[in-house]
Amino acid sequence: MTATPWSARFEAGLHPTVAAFNASIGFDIELIEYDLSGSAAHARMLAHSGILSEAEAEALVGGLEQIRSEWRTGRFCPGLEQEDVHYAVERRLVELVGEVGKKLHTARSRNDQVGTDLRLWLRDRIDRIVGRLGAFQRTLLDLAACHVETLIPGYTHLQRAQPVSLAHHLLAYIEMGERDIERLTQIRARVNVCPLGSGALAGTVLPIDRHYTAQLLGFVTLSENSLDAVSDRDYVVEFLAAASLIAVHLSRLSEEIILWASQEFRFVALTDRCATGSSLMPQKKNPDVPELVRGKTGRIFGHLMGMLTVLKGLPLAYNKDLQEDKEGIFDAARSVESSLEAMTILLAEGIVFQPDRLAGAVEEDFSNATDAADYLVRKGVPFREAYGVIGAVVKHCLKSQALLRELPIAQWRHFHPAFDEDLYAAITPRTVVAARNSYGGTGFEQVRAALGRAEARWQGH
Ligand code: ARG
Repeated sequence: MTATPWSARFEAGLHPTVAAFNASIGFDIELIEYDLSGSAAHARMLAHSGILSEAEAEALVGGLEQIRSEWRTGRFCPGLEQEDVHYAVERRLVELVGEVGKKLHTARSRNDQVGTDLRLWLRDRIDRIVGRLGAFQRTLLDLAACHVETLIPGYTHLQRAQPVSLAHHLLAYIEMGERDIERLTQIRARVNVCPLGSGALAGTVLPIDRHYTAQLLGFVTLSENSLDAVSDRDYVVEFLAAASLIAVHLSRLSEEIILWASQEFRFVALTDRCATGSSLMPQKKNPDVPELVRGKTGRIFGHLMGMLTVLKGLPLAYNKDLQEDKEGIFDAARSVESSLEAMTILLAEGIVFQPDRLAGAVEEDFSNATDAADYLVRKGVPFREAYGVIGAVVKHCLKSQALLRELPIAQWRHFHPAFDEDLYAAITPRTVVAARNSYGGTGFEQVRAALGRAEARWQGH
């Protein structure tokens, strides 16, 4: 029987299958660096509060740092018998520093410890993801800057609607990314709260100084209620929700790139650096990167729903169910980070917009029909009447297989006397895009201004 720190009140050893079922060391080892930092801060606080001597705290901190260096050099690999990362560290500490190691857990429970570790881990992970979002935004901004005057069909219902500036289209994703950064920044403030010192659930009889520990760990505030502190995982749900939205945004962009790369659209070509082939069909070039990003989105959503469900019926305070918080959040953070990294590379060097295809696309449809109606509006025709006139023109063109610009002026006049030769200039794709100059619209002037504002905000991050 492996002795556990709690085995004193037990007569028989744990069934090995149950021990393995109970153990979290297989995944919570991810927290080790934060567990070591949290423990070092706790030891310092115990000395600061007169609960341990300075020499004892020094010995503990020294031992913890040694475990850190063993971990970093691959010499600390706790096995499954260790139950969890907290016990693994404590046991190794006692091996390294002797009896004094047994004083580390004074005035602490694994319940407030694990919450502290997870918050420290998440704080770091949020910073990394925000950094990756910044790089993603940078790449989008650079790409958009090259394509202010490139036109692309704009769609509603995936039907050609009105042409837009490609930069305007890309700027839509920049807006989403900015909201993602803002959301993570707000969540970070709620993550940055120290639960350490809440004990198992009720606080402690010892004269600890919670403010001191919190300060050592860079937490901005302290949790107010010990029961809430050890059982709160709202921040996990919030992060998973933010991760889900990042994934939604990346997945929508992925879907567009996949469509654009298809034979049917051919708006982008995939470079060899970011595409893959088929084992069977020699001609294939597949957009695996955006497909995987789109696919990983499902996993991230699953983790969000999983965590909400874990929390749903939990009575206060800590319950072992909470150990189920980790695998999902670890995987979600990893998936979001790797997706952002891959999408940044895809945008920078994986896709090449095809100017001829894009230019051809906006010429070959009726996406200037609204502009023909607006032409009449400018001549004083009520919009609803103008709309009806152009509808009839479109119906006529569809029957005679002509585009609006191909219809002679005499025929236009047959539909309404207000049409004149200047109509043709008013309905070229370039004119119609340039003319949508309302704030936030796709007019080139607006897009340049929006790019400038986005650039300034990016610099500000
Ligand atoms: N491995 C546990 C977890 O992740 C640590 C806390 C255990 N606390 C307890 N009272 N059994 O939740």
